[in-house]
Amino acid sequence: MPEKTFHIHTIGCQMNVYDADLMANALMAMGYRPVTEPEAADLAIVNTCAIREKAEQKVYSLLGRLAGLKRQRTTMRIAVGGCVAQLAGKRIQRRAPYVDLVFGTRALERLPELVRRLDAGEGPLCDVAGGEGVMEMDGPRQAVVQPRVSRFVTIMQGCDNFCTYCVVPYARGREMSRDPGRIVAEVQDLVADGAREVTLLGQNVNSYGNKEGLCGFAELLRRVAAVEGLERIRFTTSHPKDLSPALIDAFACIDRLCDHIHLPVQSGSDRILARMNRRYGRQTYMDLVTRLRAVRPEIAITSDIIVGFPGETEEDFNQTLDLIKTVGFDGLFAFHYSDRPGTPACRFTPKVTLGVKRRRLEALNELQNAATLARHRSLVGTTVAVLVEGASKRCDQLDPHGGEAIQWTGRTSSNKIVNFSQPSSTEVPPANVGDLCQVRIEAAFAHSLLGVRAPEAVGLKGEACHAA
Ligand code: SAH
Ligand code: SF4
Ligand code: F3S
Repeated sequence: MPEKTFHIHTIGCQMNVYDADLMANALMAMGYRPVTEPEAADLAIVNTCAIREKAEQKVYSLLGRLAGLKRQRTTMRIAVGGCVAQLAGKRIQRRAPYVDLVFGTRALERLPELVRRLDAGEGPLCDVAGGEGVMEMDGPRQAVVQPRVSRFVTIMQGCDNFCTYCVVPYARGREMSRDPGRIVAEVQDLVADGAREVTLLGQNVNSYGNKEGLCGFAELLRRVAAVEGLERIRFTTSHPKDLSPALIDAFACIDRLCDHIHLPVQSGSDRILARMNRRYGRQTYMDLVTRLRAVRPEIAITSDIIVGFPGETEEDFNQTLDLIKTVGFDGLFAFHYSDRPGTPACRFTPKVTLGVKRRRLEALNELQNAATLARHRSLVGTTVAVLVEGASKRCDQLDPHGGEAIQWTGRTSSNKIVNFSQPSSTEVPPANVGDLCQVRIEAAFAHSLLGVRAPEAVGLKGEACHAA
């Protein structure tokens, strides 16, 4: 029988990207082969996100497209995984009857069995039952979806915080942490496979291990940092209410911990933060920023903001703008508030109109874009350490030195994207994926920096990135 093929389309957060690689590895162990286009797939998986209405709508438009492909190739099977699958279950198949399989966030470990049943002619199938938390996979795994040098490692599943707007506790279930030994072993396997950087993932990494009585998150960071061959560690997401002195101290003590923290604030108004059930106030947040900068002055701080939460007044919104100006973020992800069925905020009034949400989002983005660009411009003329992730997609950008056409892309320790060229005329050895290169920044844009490889040598363990 010829080899079967699969394609995974992933929407949503890094946790879904991590899960996509788990799915891919499980399917490859069954003899399936990944393909880059759904047209060529015997099994097309949509890995879904339910965080905002728009993300959910995207699922159904993608499914519509896949239905068209399936009409042309009737042997094709369509599967829906991830957070929408978990929440909507069989309702997906009622709305899109051509979907052969729905599997929830806790059904990952049963995917091989479910696919075997599809292959045997069974279906449609739906599995949104419970499970053991993060799926454990023994031994090495391939990077199918993620860049090989920079990999995600989910350290905990679910969330117990129940922010009033958020669907994640329902879509991902209760918080469960993985065993630290398994996490370290996984990082060792990833390094053996070429990873130089890992990002530890959880909805609230600060509470890692609390429930299970495992080591705390700061200790986990120390254990992961000790893995030989690893240059950099990142983590996300850190909830301000649980950001402990031990974690702040980790930024002082662990060199390999990158100069970046993503610390979602959501709003600058205490009244709105209370209605969101965030359990911290604006002053607490600003104090955390001060303490982080005291131990790591160069730390980049990014955040998430929701505009137009029910009841948000102009005054509340102005407090958010004021907090943004006071903190000076390196970058922001700002979203319109979106009603999520089943969450408490759905019932909160008064709702903010779409027009007002749009206007507020625009004002906020304008403020932050100018600040981000100013920060990027301040780096022009400096030399930064960049971990090379691959060939740049922006080869069309001019090479200021007229060197070789190839441009590399990577990130600084502070998580800024740098596209750079390799000068042909100097003694600089060619860059390779996974190298930590010194790059002189020559131009700044809204979302990236442009530079040229500098001849300086870089410390073996990435110390240079910290000192840069
Ligand atoms: N666990 C993380 C957030 C994960 S969800 C934390 O607590 O910080 C990522 C972001 O999506 C959130 O930070 C929030 O800004 C946004 N978000 C979540 N629910 C939303 C909703 N109903 N409407 C708009 N944005 C939302
Ligand atoms: Fe959602 Fe809040 Fe949990 Fe983050 S901490 S996933 S925003 S409920
Ligand atoms: Fe979306 Fe689920 Fe992540 S709702 S943001 S994919 S946890």
